[in-house]
Amino acid sequence: MGFFSKLFGKSTEEEQKVADTLKVGIVIGSVRGGRNAEAVANWTLDFANKRNDENVEYEIVDLADYHLPLLGAPLSEAAQAEGEQAIKDWSEKMATYDGYIFVAPEYNHAVGGALKNALDYLKAEVANKVAGFVGYGSLGGVRAHENLRLILGELQVADVRTAVTFSLMTDFENMSEFKPADHHEANANGMLDQVVSWGRAFKTLRD
Ligand SMILES: Cc1cc2nc3c(=O)[nH]c(=O)nc-3n(C[C@H](O)[C@H](O)[C@H](O)COP(=O)(O)O)c2cc1C
Repeated sequence: MGFFSKLFGKSTEEEQKVADTLKVGIVIGSVRGGRNAEAVANWTLDFANKRNDENVEYEIVDLADYHLPLLGAPLSEAAQAEGEQAIKDWSEKMATYDGYIFVAPEYNHAVGGALKNALDYLKAEVANKVAGFVGYGSLGGVRAHENLRLILGELQVADVRTAVTFSLMTDFENMSEFKPADHHEANANGMLDQVVSWGRAFKTLRD
């Protein structure tokens, strides 16, 4: 009897399924009040779920839920405990995934500060895992993606080539109501295909 069977009384088949399930976190990379990120992340989750990828679980991870302090900033005694708990929760959550889809807006031609700060807390939790990007901005958030690729390289996260790039001008009404054009679905499928296949390959590297 294997480890999972002893713990949960599962059959070998179920045990294998647990081991095989690929967990992908869809990270909402903006904490701004009134952010567009939430609608884009929900679209991404919905789109991913509709693909019915076998043994793949997609889940939203909302950066705004964690209230992470600025890395290294001195904190009051009261804020210290809360901050440490937030960092622990964030790190532990990110460690549970095999891959990530970063929903990343572009701020001043780069990734937003909140996401950069959150990534700076991670290392072993994300190493040898895979990432895809869904972005938005005047040019589809591509400069945020390119910036993220540099950061993720240092964290040893393998980022896939194809990204989804929503335009603030044509995929949003008044730059705030998300109305994505259908043609983005091709890139969304391409990105997810590669996140899943690379995700499985990298899983064997870590097991
Ligand atoms: C400080 C700031 C800088 C921005 N810089 C850029 C930029 O360089 N390129 C771009 O395409 N959009 C830029 N934008 C527009 C944002 O991408 C847009 O507001 C987007 O909705 C932000 O994501 P969020 O709503 O999820 O927070 C900027 C917005 C702010 C507030």
